[in-house]
Amino acid sequence: MYLATLLAFLGVLAATVCNAQTFSSCNPTVNISCPADPAISTPFTSDFTKGSSALTGWTTTAGSLTYDTSGSGALFTINKRGDAPTIQSTGYLFFGYVEVKMKAAAGQGIISSIVLESDDLDEVDWEFIGGTDSGVQTNYFGKGNTTTYDRMIPYNVATPQEVSHTYALNWTADSLVWLIDNVPQRTLHYADAVGGKNYPQTPMNVRIGIWAGGDPSNSAGTITWAGGPTDYTKAPFTMSVESVKIINYTPGTSYSYSDMSGSYQSIKVAGAGNPSG
Ligand SMILES: *[C@@H]1O[C@H](CO)[C@@H](O)[C@H](O)[C@H]1NC(C)=O
Ligand SMILES: *[C@@H]1O[C@H](CO)[C@@H](O)[C@H](O)[C@H]1NC(C)=O
Ligand SMILES: *[C@@H]1O[C@H](CO)[C@@H](O)[C@H](O)[C@H]1NC(C)=O
Repeated sequence: MYLATLLAFLGVLAATVCNAQTFSSCNPTVNISCPADPAISTPFTSDFTKGSSALTGWTTTAGSLTYDTSGSGALFTINKRGDAPTIQSTGYLFFGYVEVKMKAAAGQGIISSIVLESDDLDEVDWEFIGGTDSGVQTNYFGKGNTTTYDRMIPYNVATPQEVSHTYALNWTADSLVWLIDNVPQRTLHYADAVGGKNYPQTPMNVRIGIWAGGDPSNSAGTITWAGGPTDYTKAPFTMSVESVKIINYTPGTSYSYSDMSGSYQSIKVAGAGNPSG
C-alpha cells in the first residue's frame, strides 16, 4: 500500500517533506511533459558504517540520519511524533539489482521500509512491522493500481531487529525476485502481473526510511496493518542500515517516457551505457 499511505502521512508534515516528495510527483502517464529522470550511471555501494560520506548518491528527503561507525551504520530514528527520516537514491535504475543490509526497528506501529518507486507509481516494497521480530512483508504495485491489496506476501526472517540480514531485489523485464541473504524467496514473472499491466517496469529510485504507520492521523486500516497505535513514549525507534548496493542494468544519463503507456518499451534511454554519467 503503503507508499500512498506514507505520502498521505508525510503530506501533513513539514514543508520540507512536501518539497522532497514533489521531485517525483510528476506522473508521465498523466502528463507527457514530466522532466526526464537522472539515471544511475555506474554500480555503486554505500557503506554507511563509514559515516555520512556514504550519502553520496543519495538525497535526504525527510529528517536526518546519525551514524554508528562501529558497525550498525546509518541510523534512521523516530525520536518523536512527526519524525520519518528517509533517503532516496538521487538517480534511477531501469531494471537492476538492489541490496540493503539492515536491521529493522522495534516498536509497535513502527514501519521500516525499502521502497522502489517510479514516477508513474510502479512500486516494489520490503516492509517490516516493528511489533513483530520474525519477518518481512514483500509487495508490489503497477502504475499506482490499488484496486486490490492482495499482492503482499510475508516471509519469515530470524530476529530481523537484532541481526543484520541482506534484502535484495533482482529486477528485469522478465521477472522480479526478492532475495533474503542471497536466497530467492519470491519470484514475480511479467505475465503473472495481470499480463504485465501491473508489472513494475519503469525507472525507479530507491527509498529507505522509517515511519509511524500507527500514528493516530492514519486510517484505521493502516494502523491495524502497522500492528497497532504507535506509543511515542517508548521512543526512540531506530532502523539501521549498514550498506546498500545498486547495479543499474540499463546505465545511461537519463530516462524519459516517450508516450503515456507506462510500458518499459516506451522508456527512452539517453547516453545508454555511458559510464561517465
Ligand atoms: C506537466 O509537467 C510539467 C513539467 O514538470 C509542468 O510544468 C506542468 O505544469 C505539468 N502539467 C500538468 C497539467 O500538471
Ligand atoms: C488493476 O489491478 C487489477 C488486479 O489487481 C486488475 O484486475 C485490473 O485490470 C488492473 N487495472 C488496470 C487499469 O490495469
Ligand atoms: C539476476 O537475474 C539474472 C537474470 O535472471 C541472473 O542472470 C543473475 O544471476 C541474477 N543475479 C542475482 C544476484 O541473483
